[in-house]
Amino acid sequence: MKSYRIAAIGGDGIGPEVIAAGLEALEACARRDGGFRFEVKEFDWGSDHYKRHGVLMPAGGVDELRGFDAIYFGAVGAPDVPDHVTLWGLRLAICQGLDQYANVRPTRILPGITGPLRNVSAKELDWIIVRENSEGEYAGQGGRSHKGLPEEVATEVSIFTRAGVARIMRFAFALASSRPRKLLTVVTKSNAQRHGMVLWDEIAAEVATEFPDVTTDKMLVDAMTMRMVLKPETLDTIVATNLHADILSDLAAALAGSLGIAPTANLNPEGKYPSMFEPIHGSAFDIVGEGIANPIGTFWTGVMMLDHLGEPRAAERLMRAIERVTADASHHTPDLGGKATTRQVTDAVIAALEGDNA
Ligand code: IPM
Ligand code: MG
Repeated sequence: MKSYRIAAIGGDGIGPEVIAAGLEALEACARRDGGFRFEVKEFDWGSDHYKRHGVLMPAGGVDELRGFDAIYFGAVGAPDVPDHVTLWGLRLAICQGLDQYANVRPTRILPGITGPLRNVSAKELDWIIVRENSEGEYAGQGGRSHKGLPEEVATEVSIFTRAGVARIMRFAFALASSRPRKLLTVVTKSNAQRHGMVLWDEIAAEVATEFPDVTTDKMLVDAMTMRMVLKPETLDTIVATNLHADILSDLAAALAGSLGIAPTANLNPEGKYPSMFEPIHGSAFDIVGEGIANPIGTFWTGVMMLDHLGEPRAAERLMRAIERVTADASHHTPDLGGKATTRQVTDAVIAALEGDNA
């Protein structure tokens, strides 16, 4: 039987709660499928580890992860540790260290969930945002001089490389080409940012010639926010820079009804290194320990992991179970306006999986 080695990093806040729920659902999937199993190793990395040892993960942590087939990640960020420390100490260190350059964020309105847009059906809002995940505005280049003095200066340098842009464009075009509408919107800001963003546009146009079946259009990021709200049905696959896609994906998640259901995959598409799968919502310290975190984002993230591991049938089954559960409002957690607990939603998804005879 095939066995997949999974590194589980619950991290901070509600991260460990949703990852525990996600692992239960994945185990149920494997039982239902019968053709594969998971071998899970849990890591206690995150802000508590930082408070005890001064680092979010031990030296050599990223190397240790290389031996796994996938990483299942909860959230990182704590109220009493600066956000840039937690982020660069764990999540970005893993993404950059394992060259997970393609961040993929599907957005759909799931059955039973009402988004804030009037008259927009699930069919009209079905997007995948591809986020460049290795450079751009998150490259980490820059510095501060004359700290604390009136002449203090700080730089935050965006990096756009031909290789980095070309590989994310190829990934986005291939993904768009695999979807029924074959439609790719390239988000840019080349009117104001005349170097990196112009290179971005040029490479998009070059790569487009390799994918004659894909229709593309170009959108300035500011105008894109309006189009997402006013004409959601005109969008399908979207590619954007690290920061632009960060912002647009929060808007997308809100338009689909809740940040609590949005999944993401940090992919190393070539499979040279393991990819990392995480819900978008973050650590949500306001509800830690209450048992009401919405595990749907983590389950959907599990669907992406199963797909990536090469288990599309199990992935489809888990997605069907998720949709059956969200369709019933008695299974909605408080972020969706309901009263259900993490436990109840998890049990409902597992029951739906076990009852799925397809
Ligand atoms: C996301 C998050 C992170 C990001 C935060 C936690 C730094 O917002 O995954 O979208 O900006 O990348
Ligand atoms: Mg974000």
